[in-house]
Amino acid sequence: MRITVVTLFPEAFESALAASLLGKARAAGIVAVDFVNPRDFTSDKHRSVDDAPYGGGPGMVMKPQPLVDAIESAGGGHRVLLTPVGAPLDQAAVRALAARPHIVLVCGRYEGVDERVSRLAIDQEISLGDFVLSGGEFAALAVIDAVSRLIPGVLGEMASTVEESFSDGASLEYPQYTRPTEFRGLAVPDVLVGGHHEKVRAWRRRESLRRTAARRPDLLARRRLSPADRALVDGDPVVLPASRAHVVLAHHPVLDRTGAVVTSSITNLDVHDIARSCATYGLAGYEIVTPVGAQREKIEHMARVWLDELAQEGVQAGHGHRGHALAPIRVHESIEAALAAIGPQPLVVATSARESPRPIGYRELLRLLGRMPDRPLALLFGTGHGLADAVIASVDHVLEPIEGQSDWNHLSVRSAAAVILDRLFGTGA
Ligand SMILES: C[S@@+](CC[C@H](N)C(=O)[O-])C[C@H]1O[C@@H](n2cnc3c(N)ncnc32)[C@H](O)[C@@H]1O
Repeated sequence: MRITVVTLFPEAFESALAASLLGKARAAGIVAVDFVNPRDFTSDKHRSVDDAPYGGGPGMVMKPQPLVDAIESAGGGHRVLLTPVGAPLDQAAVRALAARPHIVLVCGRYEGVDERVSRLAIDQEISLGDFVLSGGEFAALAVIDAVSRLIPGVLGEMASTVEESFSDGASLEYPQYTRPTEFRGLAVPDVLVGGHHEKVRAWRRRESLRRTAARRPDLLARRRLSPADRALVDGDPVVLPASRAHVVLAHHPVLDRTGAVVTSSITNLDVHDIARSCATYGLAGYEIVTPVGAQREKIEHMARVWLDELAQEGVQAGHGHRGHALAPIRVHESIEAALAAIGPQPLVVATSARESPRPIGYRELLRLLGRMPDRPLALLFGTGHGLADAVIASVDHVLEPIEGQSDWNHLSVRSAAAVILDRLFGTGA
């Protein structure tokens, strides 16, 4: 593979490219790296490559002509500009670059490059992440390193690139251990020293999914688990936090539109629709709270009608019969009773349309759940105009309000529940 680097500072690459695997790959002719300096394409006596930005502002901008000429002198290849406004680099993009015979990596400096360079001479813009480097050289080095280790012959064992983090696009690598079996009181997990290959494989895959769920829930949220993975982590409280989550729908104490604390009436739609959302996202339970005995009986009756029908028809789980969704409904006379029924020490998270002083974000909540796999989650929803202040003050966390870009902010509780369950437990993020 050939890599051309367009840079004002080729010397920044010397030691990094000479060392370790990259040095060997270059010596063996597997990867060839050459440099083009835009300064060699200037015509003024100061050999200037930058100029002040039109419209004013701090710093200087790289001029289009020396840079475009430098890029074109590379004679083809896939042209990549390293820039913080590019698409964040991931392993899939690294793999695509590694499949090309020639890539040209263009490094910016100063406040960046004239926009026309991108329009005229760049095929792809890549960012290393949401931070600002002082030059594209370090980003280019990272790309060179990540790309070249995928080229056959560079790493000793290609398998090591198959099982590592992100190789399947969506999970982090499992924990690794080497000798000794015990270090400062910490032992290597038994399964790894047992010599049973299939058990090791299953353990690694499960740990990889658990780590990803706890540390990078955003990665797992991008897709549904494969049937094999689902079988492996069935009911796992870290990978499938929904399996220990309960929706608690409170009709008391809630606010009315004047801000008074009241008891609201149950509505059929909330009972049914939230039950269906809970079933879709795989929640453990749906707890409905009302202090009014007659209303509790009404809900129980409603659920029973559907469950009887389900029993008569014998519809299997997963076939969308409403009875399956209504089965996990329980009624309680108070929020405290609902929390006690959920299990020991539930993490209690209230939802609110109003601002609260220190709300918890969705990913933060998922990460927190990953760190406390033994605690069930109670997601509190208020009917009417939301949960009373005393409830909000008593919970462990208040979830960020759902907000769009408009000033209107009054979702129905069943819509809010659907949005929040999807943000926490849905796929396709
Ligand atoms: C100081 S930065 C320019 C930042 C630019 N003014 C902005 O705010 O987006 C100079 C050069 O460093 C490189 N660079 C900085 N941050 C980067 C990142 N996160 N990923 C890739 N390249 C980066 C780019 O080549 C950029 O042109």
